[in-house]
Amino acid sequence: MNHSPHTKQTVYLNGEFIPMADSKISTQDRGFLFGDGVYEVIPVYNGQLFSFQEHLQRLKNSLNAVSIQNPLSDTQWLDILNNLIQKHPWKDQYIYLQVTRGIQMQRDHLPADNLTPTVYAYTNPLKPVPEHIIKHGIRVITLEDIRWLKCDIKAITLLPNVMMKLAAKAQQADDAILISREGYITEGTASNAFIVKNGTIITPPNGQKLLPGITRLVIERIANSHKIPLIEQDITEQDLAQADEIWLSSSTKEALPVTTLNGHAVGTGKPGAIWHKIKTFYQEHKQAFIEGKS
Ligand code: PDD
Repeated sequence: MNHSPHTKQTVYLNGEFIPMADSKISTQDRGFLFGDGVYEVIPVYNGQLFSFQEHLQRLKNSLNAVSIQNPLSDTQWLDILNNLIQKHPWKDQYIYLQVTRGIQMQRDHLPADNLTPTVYAYTNPLKPVPEHIIKHGIRVITLEDIRWLKCDIKAITLLPNVMMKLAAKAQQADDAILISREGYITEGTASNAFIVKNGTIITPPNGQKLLPGITRLVIERIANSHKIPLIEQDITEQDLAQADEIWLSSSTKEALPVTTLNGHAVGTGKPGAIWHKIKTFYQEHKQAFIEGKS
């Protein structure tokens, strides 16, 4: 069996497990025509879905917010995703799942009643963050957050995120931290943002300007249980520029240290002490989860 990704992957599409190469959706799917759908990305450690309840709840919140009916029960979701995981040999994976409003033969912004949502899920090997990034961190620029005002919905409509990622690349940066119209940090293009100032971790409060990240939530819980001060508070561009540490977090990257901001060193220019602590505790937390202790 060829275990490399993309060759023999099985995907789930509308009730069936099929080879990725054979998976097809209609040109009239509203996801394709309008970006009318929502998604989730869920990490899998040692074959087990991590923070599944939190991801499922966020999926339900996204579906509810855009008035797409949840097509599956909690048990059905769990069965499908576990089935998908078991069909692939990788210990650590990440699941991408997407629900669109479904197929509508005549293109119309107004959705027809009673459409059948399209449900798609597939899995990938989850690779550890490269050693040079752990050692040296990443380069980030700030950009105006050009997205809409409902960023708490995990919508598949990601054109602004793609454009901002390209803009970062054009400036030789790995990613961007986004600044709202009010002048506050929102998040990264596909991650949440944190700063550390005088030993306190600060992250912007949840709301409609950013995604309530599950990794962010795990980091908050870890910081609390280890008595590392963490507050949710608006962060200005100036706070960001004067931060001792900056991190980004996501399900596929965990907590990533940012060591260059707009061409200037962040703090010492190396991944910071608090990040190192959180990283260690995060790995312990994952290990305990794998062993069924958390
Ligand atoms: N993105 N903010 C945005 C805009 C994101 O797209 C993501 C994740 C996050 C972090 O959320 P979490 O910790 O739950 O992964 C924050 C996923 C990984 C993606 O789009 O691939």
